[in-house]
Amino acid sequence: QWSAASFVESTVKELKEQLGNDRVILGLSGGVDSSVCAALLNRAIGDKLTCIFVDHGMLRKNEFEKVMEAYQGIGLNVVGIDASDKFFSDLAGVTDPEEKRKIIGRDFVEVFNEEAKKITDAKWLAQGTIYPDRIESLSITGMVIKSHHNVGGLPKEMHLQLCEPLQWLFKDEVRRVGLEMGMPERLIKRHPFPGPGLAVRILGDITREKVRILQEADDIYIENMHNYICEDGKELYDKIWQAGTVLMSSVRSVGVMGDERTYEHPVALRAVTSTDAMTADWAHLPYDFMAKVSNEIINKVKGVNRVCYDISSKPPSTIEWE
Ligand code: XMP
Repeated sequence: QWSAASFVESTVKELKEQLGNDRVILGLSGGVDSSVCAALLNRAIGDKLTCIFVDHGMLRKNEFEKVMEAYQGIGLNVVGIDASDKFFSDLAGVTDPEEKRKIIGRDFVEVFNEEAKKITDAKWLAQGTIYPDRIESLSITGMVIKSHHNVGGLPKEMHLQLCEPLQWLFKDEVRRVGLEMGMPERLIKRHPFPGPGLAVRILGDITREKVRILQEADDIYIENMHNYICEDGKELYDKIWQAGTVLMSSVRSVGVMGDERTYEHPVALRAVTSTDAMTADWAHLPYDFMAKVSNEIINKVKGVNRVCYDISSKPPSTIEWE
């Protein structure tokens, strides 16, 4: 019988034995998986763990700053790197989803590697990979559906061994492990967020301006989801597996704002329920919630004049649009 408490106890013990006095590097993403992985390692080896958090510039609004603070609050030894210039310049003009993912994956490894090389006594690379990440990278026919950038990206020249203590766990188990270790609920309850960030939620090429537009729309959506309290007293956010906005930047439609004609982009709201991200249903969001979000986005976010709701389940759709 699996329990979070016994998982923590046995994993910390195994990590101590496996790692001894070795230094470990871990890439933090701000998400639940890498954060829980860091907390486990922190418990096992303390300051022998060095965490690296790369900002590719396509995180949620103010995410990098908020998450850095949270990590420092739980006592992690973490280095934050703003590498957004590199990512934006390498992504300029690229529209193909897989190409975007590959560039981001490659740049990420490069930036990470550059920083990791400074940690000369490192022997291990830890990753917060969980079970669904591993199976999602390959379909049963062996065809790549989407190349998840956090799987198998270990650069050979680093000569580091791989440590993935969460590799057999599902997301709900990872959350239980985090809570068991006393991590802040707000961090543990966070929805999953894709490694390539908002890049896979902007259809078409990526620019700083498009990211800024999407960050504003996304922030309105997610904050409203936290503030909407359901009949049972829970935040709407807590009932949803994952939510986000998609900028259809390659589409424009006509609207009217005051007396002026507008010709701008639509944003799609996505919200799904799921237990493991391998299948997902679109969430039946309350109409009054959707109405409020739509009004706020259109009135406050310049560049957006239409809001749609995505009613596709996985399969045949996927959670992310790219
Ligand atoms: P899809 O879109 O394939 O996504 O239904 C399934 C889950 O995986 C997340 N996702 C990623 N996570 N690196 C990640 O760490 C990635 O490259 C990546 N792509 C998708 C997605 O947000 C959803 O939770």
